[in-house]
Amino acid sequence: MGELDVAALLGEIAGIGRDARRGGYSRHVFDEHEARLRAWFTGHAARLGLTVAPDGNGNLWAWWGDPGPGAVLTGSHLDSVPGGGAYDGPLGVASALAAVSRLRAAGEQPPRPLAVVAFAEEEGSRFGRACLGSRLAAGQADPVAVREYRDAAGVTFADAARAAGIDPAGLGPVPWAAQAACFVELHVEQGRALAGLGQPVAIATTILAHGRWTLAFTGQGNHAGTTAMAGRRDPAAAAARTVLAARDLALAADPAPDDNSKMRGGAVHGHAAPGHAVPGRAVAARATVGQAELIPGGANVIASRATLSLDCRAHDDAALAALVAAIAGAAEQSATAEGCTFTMSQASLSPLVVFDAALRDTVAALLPDAPLLATGAGHDAGILAALIPTAMLFVRNPSGVSHAPDEGASDEDCRAGVGALTTVLRHLLAGGRAGPRPAEPR
Ligand code: GLV
Ligand code: MN
Ligand code: MN
Repeated sequence: MGELDVAALLGEIAGIGRDARRGGYSRHVFDEHEARLRAWFTGHAARLGLTVAPDGNGNLWAWWGDPGPGAVLTGSHLDSVPGGGAYDGPLGVASALAAVSRLRAAGEQPPRPLAVVAFAEEEGSRFGRACLGSRLAAGQADPVAVREYRDAAGVTFADAARAAGIDPAGLGPVPWAAQAACFVELHVEQGRALAGLGQPVAIATTILAHGRWTLAFTGQGNHAGTTAMAGRRDPAAAAARTVLAARDLALAADPAPDDNSKMRGGAVHGHAAPGHAVPGRAVAARATVGQAELIPGGANVIASRATLSLDCRAHDDAALAALVAAIAGAAEQSATAEGCTFTMSQASLSPLVVFDAALRDTVAALLPDAPLLATGAGHDAGILAALIPTAMLFVRNPSGVSHAPDEGASDEDCRAGVGALTTVLRHLLAGGRAGPRPAEPR
């Protein structure tokens, strides 16, 4: 079996799940497009001589060696956001397959098992909970609750899984996730830092604390023509005030990128000197309303209810809690001002992730030119980081855009990513530890 080329692999799936209305790709867990991606993954893994073993959560595990403790894990996810880019997720899966093909072609015979994993529902685009497959595998999601999660059409997770050939009775922790030696996820960069640094690959340091909430405003449904403006109880107006308040509160707390180094004495990106503070722990506050629904949704009807999604992120757990509390307060005030009531519920919460320092230093020593980069994007690696040493590699994205069709990476950079991942996996499979990277001149 020869080596797989990552650009060719991505080319094979470039036609799957294109979204003509939104642009980009819409590939959601257990839908027909994701099923084709699963078949693509399974076919390549089998041809590489790997044994594909789905877990009970919809994640696919392709094993080189016998499944068991001490494994090196690598991979990412195949699902997308609505109208997402081609690289967020599939790049990590395709790169893992390509790296394994290189190692196998080189005749490596690792003393420990390796698994390439494709996690299910990383984006949470169908059932609303980010990193659902890895959370279930890691024992961080309650299977009983997850079975009852519903998509926008009212289909439960259990029914969607069953329709995809997965028995929802099998949902729950996967022992080999907790017993693995480490997880390395390669991902397209979701900002423009590498373009400015002139490097194709970076190493992750931290992930912002983040979570999702649902905000609901209830008013009085009524006739658009016969109801005077004064005294309306219009939840659309309360929701609109809240969207702006959330934006303003986060904006006030989120420094312009160039100001971060001044605020904390640490660059947003940079090289780690062993024993020094992790770079990238800059002040950050983000609030995004990406979904809004007015019920009943008639053009000539004052809504009776409005719901908003709220995605909030910040540089640590306390800052996130403070931002969310401030937005909740503003929403309450907005509701009162419009004669409405307000409720809020949390869909998911992911604390700040600081990736394992020893593994980060090992990877940094193996890839001496790769800068260290913090990220505001969530990843399955962030979930596994609570269980086992975890690292991430980022591949340069010249547009800096992600979760949108303009996301990109050159073939050359993708191949550089595979080269970096291969180096790291080879080292970890051998059970080796590199020394820390020499300190950067200051
Ligand atoms: C996933 O990419 C997220 O950050 O929400
Ligand atoms: Mn994403
Ligand atoms: Mn991703």
